[in-house]
Amino acid sequence: MLFCRKIPTVAPIYISCRLRSPALYRFLTTVINTSASKPFYITTPIFYPNAAPHIGHLYSLVTADIFARFTRISEPGRLVHFLTGTDEHGLKIQKAAKDRGIEPSVLCDALSEQFRRLGARANISNTVFLRTTEARHREAVEHVWRDLAAQDLIYKGTYSGWYSISDECFYTDSQITHPPSSLTPVSIETGSAVEWSSESNYKFRLSSFQKRLLDYYTANPKSIYPSSHREKLIQTLKDEPLDDLSISRPRERLSWGIPVPGDMSHTMYVWFDALTVYLTGVGFPAKQQGSLWPPNIQVIGKDIVRFHALYLPAMLLAMGMPLSHTLLAHAHWTAQQRKMSKSIGNVADPFDAMDTWGVDAVRFYMARVGGRFRDDVDWSPEQLEKHADEIRSLLGNFFLRITSKKMQKRVASAPQLTFVQLLDQSLDGPNGDVLSSLRNLNGKVEQCMEKFEVGDALDAIILVLREANGALTHTAPWSMQNPPEAAQVSYLLSLEVLRVTGICLQPFIPEAAHNLLDALGVPKLERSMDFAVVGKANVGEVKGVKLFEGKREIASGGP
Ligand code: ME8
Ligand code: MG
Repeated sequence: MLFCRKIPTVAPIYISCRLRSPALYRFLTTVINTSASKPFYITTPIFYPNAAPHIGHLYSLVTADIFARFTRISEPGRLVHFLTGTDEHGLKIQKAAKDRGIEPSVLCDALSEQFRRLGARANISNTVFLRTTEARHREAVEHVWRDLAAQDLIYKGTYSGWYSISDECFYTDSQITHPPSSLTPVSIETGSAVEWSSESNYKFRLSSFQKRLLDYYTANPKSIYPSSHREKLIQTLKDEPLDDLSISRPRERLSWGIPVPGDMSHTMYVWFDALTVYLTGVGFPAKQQGSLWPPNIQVIGKDIVRFHALYLPAMLLAMGMPLSHTLLAHAHWTAQQRKMSKSIGNVADPFDAMDTWGVDAVRFYMARVGGRFRDDVDWSPEQLEKHADEIRSLLGNFFLRITSKKMQKRVASAPQLTFVQLLDQSLDGPNGDVLSSLRNLNGKVEQCMEKFEVGDALDAIILVLREANGALTHTAPWSMQNPPEAAQVSYLLSLEVLRVTGICLQPFIPEAAHNLLDALGVPKLERSMDFAVVGKANVGEVKGVKLFEGKREIASGGP
């Protein structure tokens, strides 16, 4: 299980009363939350609404959604709190609005809505969508500021160095370069233009947390995944002094943001503001000791590891709050081998992709190709098409083959048998191989997910489906040359493959999995991972349906 034990006995009542009796639901929520582990809290970055969302943002959302949905089926009854939203203050937004000749708030309203729509369109099951321009967030940020200031962790100083508006990041001399082709110096890491700034601002004593951060990352191997990011961070913390962090900008330079409490001539640095959103999302400061904190998983892109692995933890340590369990830092989607980015403009439109191939096809491609999180992947419509065909064929076409009229007729002429009765017979040959792979699937998927290996979990499911498709082709149960009993065996085994893989596929392709489980007559309460066990439940009355949005499945290679 991911991070806690289950509560199977209350789960059915709990789930079914959510709509019918909100009061009972709240009561059970309290009982569950106090009797089991804390709710599962997962976050994505909050995105800058300076331009329309692209594939990279969808990828972070899908990755987090896979873990949120997996937790719901592997630990039914455990509350899942899932935050995403938009990061609306700062110079980047101020500049984007000015370039368009509109007010920042108008820009944010329009573009934040697009990020919200993206989540809805992609079946992302977030429970909170937070905008940093909301009043509750401002209250949280001011509270953090005052807390740190009261501990003398904030002082007024000066900053002379480089700043990139595009990255909203301060850089030192050693972090920039002057390429001959560029008019301005740029950040070595991101290639973004930087400008010199020399100004007075407030600083956070980040340097005083260096040793505690180093000790923390050294002692906690699961704190960052993939671990290469953790190793790099440990090395940096060993090798380089951690400078104090500027956390405000003079108001004449940055007016679009939260004013520093007690000093209206300064506006807070957008990252100080943005990182606090994860606290706002659990009701901070009212619920400081709330059961939701800390995040179990924070999904981020590798471009923002430093902010989440150094700045946020230092702020939390200062406030005596626990740190996130795991930062999952994924790699980037590229276009023509360059990071897909709103600022560069080399982006693929996620709405177009979902309209063309269907939501689940896009989600499947992302998880299958991007589910290892380590290497950058070039966005490729050809590859998307290939992977969409793969799942349509292995799942959709497989389903059509076994529910075809010809197959049904053959099966009807055999003596009636249930799958559990079938298990008394020993299956051999390809059917026997399928059965033994299917028996191992649940455990494999859970192990992979616990290790954050989304790609491997999906691999395991696909392997079973591939084996089952192969066995069906090999046995050709629809052929009049084979006895009806053989058709019966293939049919029941295939249905069981679909039931078990359908349960396991819910986090990845929720709509197709839902259509499939409905078509198999699997009751809602039998869709958790503990039902993804061979022979644990029977399928109900089987109905032929279309599983995937978009292109139609074709019953090829079968009856
Ligand atoms: O950095 N490939 O917002 P942002 C994969 N507001 N993921 C990508 C990506 C790509 N090419 N491009 C973006 C910010 N992402 C801040 C975050 S959090 C408190 C504040 C994803 O709009 C990835 O998760 O630039 C990356 O970290 C995030 O979007 C950055 O989005
Ligand atoms: Mg960015």
